[in-house]
Amino acid sequence: MITSRELRQKYLEFFASKEHKIIPSASLIPENDPTVLFTTAGMHPLVPYLLGEKHPEGKRLANIQKCIRTQDIDEVGDTRHDTFFEMMGNWSLGDYFKKEAIEWSWEFLTSPKYLGLDPRKLAVTVFAGENENGIPRDEEAANIWKSLGVDENKIAYLPRKNNWWGPAGQTGPCGPDTEMFFWKGETEFPPAGSNAGTDEDNWLEIWNDVFMQYNKNKEGSYEPLAQKNVDTGMGLERTLVTLNGFADVFQIDTFWPLIQKIEELSGREYIESLEVTKSMRIIADHLRTATMIMGDDKCVAPSNVDRGYIVRRLIRRAVRHGRLLGINENFCDKIAAEVINIFKDVYSEVDKNKEFITFELAKEESKFRNTIEQGLKEFEKLLSGFRIAFEKTGKNITEISGKQAFKLFESFGFPLEITLEMALENGLTVDVNSFEEAFKAHQDLSRAGAEQKFKGGMADHGEMSVKYHTGTHLLNAALRQVLGSHVEQRGSNITAERLRFDFSHPEKMSEEQKQQVEDLVNYAIKKDYHVSFVEMTVAEAKEHGAMGVFEDKYGNKVKVYSVGEPDVAPTATINSQTFSKEICGGPHVEHTGTMGQFKIVKEEAVSSGIRRIKAVLL
Ligand code: ALA
Repeated sequence: MITSRELRQKYLEFFASKEHKIIPSASLIPENDPTVLFTTAGMHPLVPYLLGEKHPEGKRLANIQKCIRTQDIDEVGDTRHDTFFEMMGNWSLGDYFKKEAIEWSWEFLTSPKYLGLDPRKLAVTVFAGENENGIPRDEEAANIWKSLGVDENKIAYLPRKNNWWGPAGQTGPCGPDTEMFFWKGETEFPPAGSNAGTDEDNWLEIWNDVFMQYNKNKEGSYEPLAQKNVDTGMGLERTLVTLNGFADVFQIDTFWPLIQKIEELSGREYIESLEVTKSMRIIADHLRTATMIMGDDKCVAPSNVDRGYIVRRLIRRAVRHGRLLGINENFCDKIAAEVINIFKDVYSEVDKNKEFITFELAKEESKFRNTIEQGLKEFEKLLSGFRIAFEKTGKNITEISGKQAFKLFESFGFPLEITLEMALENGLTVDVNSFEEAFKAHQDLSRAGAEQKFKGGMADHGEMSVKYHTGTHLLNAALRQVLGSHVEQRGSNITAERLRFDFSHPEKMSEEQKQQVEDLVNYAIKKDYHVSFVEMTVAEAKEHGAMGVFEDKYGNKVKVYSVGEPDVAPTATINSQTFSKEICGGPHVEHTGTMGQFKIVKEEAVSSGIRRIKAVLL
C-alpha cells in the first residue's frame, strides 16, 4: 500500500535529485487568464515562463498542483471520474528536452527505488505527425523509448486527439506529447501486440510528457517557440489507484475517509447498491471540490456567477444526493471538515480558511434546504401535468421546456444539473439551449458574454489585461492607505474590460472613501511611476513589507513588483518611496502613465467581511 503522502514525497524527491526546484502549488484561481475559470493543469500558472519569461527559481521546476476540471462532471459517480485532482509535474523551461524527460519518466516509473512498475506492463504513445501544420511524426521520442528497451509493438503513433496537448486557454504554448500507460486488462500481462492504440480499453494513462515547442496564436496557427520546453503531468489519484490495485478512485486515502463519513451520517453502506455507491461518490467528489475552491487563497463563496456558481452547483447536487441517502439535516460542513483534515498538511490554506468554508457551506445548504422540498413538489406537478396531458389528448410530452427548468432554478434554486438528473430518472429530456438563454439574461455579468466580446477582435486584449493587472496593485495599495492595513486581497479577476478585486473589510465603503481611493490610484497613474521587480525569498519579501498571500513552503524565490518613483532604475531596490510592493508573477505595465483614467463602478459585499470593487480604466 502506498499513501498519497508517500507518492507526493517520492515524486518531489526524485525530481529534486535531478536538480529541479520544488515550487508550491499555485492557486486554483488563475491569476491573469480571463478565459478559464480554474487552473486545469500544472503548466497553467507557468504559461508566462513557458513563453520565455525568466522564472525566479530557474529552468527546472517540479511541483504538485491543485487542479479542477469540470467538463466531465456528469460522469462523476463511475469508478474513475473526479473534478478536483492533484497533478504531479516537472518542467524544463528551455533546458532539457525529449531525451532527459523520457529517460527520467521511465526511471521514476520502473526503478524499484521509486514506483517499481513492471516494464512488461507499460506501453507508450507518441504523436503521429501532421503534414498540414508541418509537424513531423515523433520518431525522436519513439527512438528514445526504444533505446530504453520499450518494444516496438508497445509504441503507438496516434493523432492530435490523443497525442497533442494545449493550449490551456484559447491561445498559448502547446505541442506534441508522449503518454505512458499501465496494463489493466484481465490477464496478468498484456498479450503480444497489445498497446494503447490497438487495445485502448485495457490500458490506463498515467503520465503525459508534453514537448511544448509551439505557440498557438490568435489566428489559430502554430509558431515555433523561442525556447523548447517540457511540461509533464501525472495524476496523483490515478497513480494511487494503479499502484494499489484499487477497483475505484474513491478508495484512495484522499477520498476514502469521506466515503466513511457519508456511510456514518446516512447509516447506509457504500456497496449496498449501485444507486447508493453513485450518490456517495457524487457527494464525496463534489464536496471535496467545493471545499478546495472555497478554501483556496482567494476564497470563493457560492453565488450565481462564474466560479461561485460552480461551487453552488457542486454543493446543491451533493445535498440532493444526501437526501437520496436519507440525510435530511445539514451535513456538508461535516464532510468539509474531513476534506480539510486530509489536505491541511499539503495545502495549508484550506485549514486557514476553515471558518469561511464552514460558514458559507452551512449558509448555502440551509438556503437550498429551504426550497428543495417545494422544488421537488413543483417537479412532481410538472410530471403529473405531462401525464394528464397524455391521458386527455394522447400527446406524449418528453421534454421539460427551458422556461420550466428556469423556473425551477429561479424560484427553487435547482441548478440545471439537478433538473437534468431528475429528468433522466423519469425518462425525460430538458431543453438546455433555451434554459441557457434565460439563464444568461439573468446573470448580471455573464462570463460567456465577456468572452464573446473578448474574441470579437479586441486586438489589444492582452495589453488591457496587463493594465488592469497593474491597476489591482494600485488599488490594493490605495485601499490600505484609505481604509487601513487590515485590508487584504481575497481575490481578483481581470478581463479586457474591467478589473474585479475582493478584499477583507468589515463594512460598506462611504462615498468619500471610494473617492479617496479613486483619487489615490489616479494620482499614482499621473505620476507615471516606473514598475519593476526584484527576486528574493518569501522571508525577505515579507521583511520588506511586500503584500501578497504566499506560503514559504520551500524557501523559494519570488518576484516582488514595486510601483515606485518614476526614475528608479529597473533593478530598483525596494525603498520607502514605493507606492506599492507586492509578491506577484507579473506581467505589468512598465510605466503607470500608460494606464488611463481609473474609475470605480461598483462597491458591494461578497460575503461577510469581504467587499468587492469593480473598476474600469477609461
Ligand atoms: N499539461 C499536460 C496535461 O495536463 C501535462 O496532461
